[in-house]
Amino acid sequence: TRQWRGIIEEYRDRLPVGPTTEVISLGEGGTPLVKALTLSELTGCDVYLKVEGANPTGSFKDRGMTMAITKAKEEGAQAVICASTGNTSASAAAYAGRAGMVCAVLVPQGKIALGKMGQALVHGAKILEVEGNFDDCLTLARGLSEKYPVALVNSVNPVRIEGQKTAAFEIVDALGDAPDIHVLPVGNAGNITAYWKGYQEYDADGLATRTPRMWGYQAAGAAPIVRGEPVLNPSTLATAIRIGNPASWKFAESARDASGGHIESVTDRQILRAYKHLAAREGVFVEPASAASVAGLLQAAEQGRVDPGQRIVCTVTGNGLKDPDWAVAGAPPPVTVQIDADAAAEKLGLA
Ligand code: F0G
Repeated sequence: TRQWRGIIEEYRDRLPVGPTTEVISLGEGGTPLVKALTLSELTGCDVYLKVEGANPTGSFKDRGMTMAITKAKEEGAQAVICASTGNTSASAAAYAGRAGMVCAVLVPQGKIALGKMGQALVHGAKILEVEGNFDDCLTLARGLSEKYPVALVNSVNPVRIEGQKTAAFEIVDALGDAPDIHVLPVGNAGNITAYWKGYQEYDADGLATRTPRMWGYQAAGAAPIVRGEPVLNPSTLATAIRIGNPASWKFAESARDASGGHIESVTDRQILRAYKHLAAREGVFVEPASAASVAGLLQAAEQGRVDPGQRIVCTVTGNGLKDPDWAVAGAPPPVTVQIDADAAAEKLGLA
């Protein structure tokens, strides 16, 4: 066995880097593809979870960020900027810090999870809380990158998509072919765009015999693609996907249409149910936005739209430790006990 070298070294010939490019990497990618036992049983399918919370900063953003920071460094940038609902900023801060670059992040005021804010802070980012939502932050970040010497590392930067497409490569490499269906949460719509690009490239080069149907899920209160128009005041407890006007909207629609898939919505209640199910029954602790993929699969199954016998991959995009409030909320407080085995056994229901 050998150590995983990060997505650029592992897939160098499929990424826009040269032989002399200095790679900025934290060993991202190579994440677990875990068979989901209860979801497989519920659907009659082989369901797998692509556990992207296992990346170095705890989300799939690291795949795109190793590319974005590597290229920014190569082009001589001294500072980078991003708008973020939290994960992009955590990732950008870590990789920029490693590259010796300044990192500026714009986040919607009061709407990012504490763990993500902590990451951006400890990795040394300059943080501005914007009086607006993510879409306002992105507008501001674009404007700043046009006027000032700072490189934009949001997924509107095409090298981000290049890095993120490697997750599709890993899935085909692991399963031996593309799945029948790929399910993922949709926010700014960069990731569904990236997976579709990755699957198409492997298919075109004969490394897979097919491409999957792409099923994307937005939160019901932040579902512009489903509604067919921007949402001015997006709202959902899944703050990572609280986005009303996704930058990669058109790409997401073409991934949906060209793959024969769909983009639909799930309610916050469904998201929380899937979140708890994943943690309690599959052993996989994700952040709420990540559970939108599984909530969507369960919804489709309940509607009788999942034929048995298929191979299905759900991407779970971020680690549950980023936003543990939802794990604690509503749960009964722990029971206290004296240092006494009989008393403890009684409280545990063992006696
Ligand atoms: N899941 C998580 C955990 C995310 O952080 C995001 C996006 C998504 C899903 C949606 O992916 O935007 O490519 O459709 N987070 C961005 C951020 C917006 O700033 O961290 P998408």
